[in-house]
Amino acid sequence: MKNIVILISGGGSNMASIVKTARRDGWQDKLGARVALVLSNKAQAGGLAFAKEQGIATEVLDHKSFDSREAFDAALAQVIDRFDTPDQPCLVVLAGFMRILTPGFVSRYQGRLLNIHPSLLPAFPGLHTHQRALDAGCQFVGATVHQVTSELDHGPILAQAVVPVLPGDTAEQLAARVLTQEHLIYPKAIAQLLQK
Ligand code: GAR
Repeated sequence: MKNIVILISGGGSNMASIVKTARRDGWQDKLGARVALVLSNKAQAGGLAFAKEQGIATEVLDHKSFDSREAFDAALAQVIDRFDTPDQPCLVVLAGFMRILTPGFVSRYQGRLLNIHPSLLPAFPGLHTHQRALDAGCQFVGATVHQVTSELDHGPILAQAVVPVLPGDTAEQLAARVLTQEHLIYPKAIAQLLQK
């Protein structure tokens, strides 16, 4: 069985969508994969309650209790590696995990570390993507699922969804419209990767 480890920092709606899709589409039987752990760097992350309700193991690793980024990432890797088996390395899925990862962490999980970003990368890496897209006068925005590399919000693109900007849109309205598409493309991209 291939374990999927999902890292979150907040509401976890992408994580919930992956969990629901995995169940609905029978990933365990059809793809030999299951969401084994949901880990958050924030104890109050809303997604943790959902994961627990679903019977998924949860873990909190508060980055503030570590002296350095390296120390936090080393602890993170230690937890994640509990879900590796010799013949089945786990898949690490960043779903609204708002931490910059060290190059050492990224290279450790290279090729099996995914992220979703709420813009049409390579446009608008970083924060406040929707407001920046509105300020730039974009007519279309979207979301990108990509392999993680050591450069923030860069890396081979696995899936994208395009969303129109409507007259009078606020950043919040745009974020909500993009998020509904994120919930579709992330599980689909993961399933495709698991099928390879
Ligand atoms: C999502 O929009 C995701 O794309 C974004 O955070 C939100 C998390 O929502 N991620 C990033 O900005 C990472 N650079 P969720 O917790 O409800 O899945």
